[in-house]
Amino acid sequence: MIVLKTPAEIEAMARANQVVARVLAAARAEVKPGVRTIDLDAMAEDMARQAGAKPSFKGYHGYPYSLCCSVNSEVVHGFPRSDPLKEGDILSMDFGVVLDGFNGDSATTVGVGRVSPEAQALMDATESSLRAGIEQMRPGMRLGDVSAAVQKVAETAGYSVVRQFVGHGIGRALHEDPQVPNFGPPGRGIELKPGLVLAIEPMVNSGGYEVKILADGWTAVTADGKLSAHFEHTVAVTENGPRILSLLPKSGD
Ligand code: MF3
Ligand code: CO
Repeated sequence: MIVLKTPAEIEAMARANQVVARVLAAARAEVKPGVRTIDLDAMAEDMARQAGAKPSFKGYHGYPYSLCCSVNSEVVHGFPRSDPLKEGDILSMDFGVVLDGFNGDSATTVGVGRVSPEAQALMDATESSLRAGIEQMRPGMRLGDVSAAVQKVAETAGYSVVRQFVGHGIGRALHEDPQVPNFGPPGRGIELKPGLVLAIEPMVNSGGYEVKILADGWTAVTADGKLSAHFEHTVAVTENGPRILSLLPKSGD
């Protein structure tokens, strides 16, 4: 069942997502060689609780941490670790909270120190594919237009989009209908209406799209061991087009 949100509910979702955005910005600022992702997880949980929000991933179907930390060939749902990040790694961080009954969910990928041009290009294309998908989120467009726009940007850049995980509706639940694949034909699927709120989250691989799950039951890695990047925003469809709830206002505003 697809739940459209009222304007007041969208403001509540914006507040939850702004907590997520502040946490991810703070975590990104900490990332450098030598930093331990287990410490980023602790920082993220503390910051969320200070803001009166509850980290939503910890305990979700048994996931044991607040911040998903996925390094290099890890695609999503990696575990924070006590071994330090190394120069040239890329780190995807995915974070969610519940505040006043509504969910926020966003992810970002950042280079550790200086990274290879190949790694930077993958991150840039993944973020661009997310932006292209978001751009489609206008009344009258269809869900397939979002999916197709993401896929086109990623594949045109020479990468592949993961099939096994998808974006999702979001609201009082972390995962609501509809599912939002990052691939597929345009012009199909539900019509987008004001009040629809989606988490768009392309996972883009530098090699093939196949992934496998490690023995921990959670960590998804690329089957071919190549790099993967992940960006995610929670976005509301409004009469005026997409509103990215998990985007921080530009400083100076
Ligand atoms: N952004 C991810 C999602 O929408 C993060 C969930 S991690 C989990 O599924 F641990 F909560 F599963
Ligand atoms: Co999500």
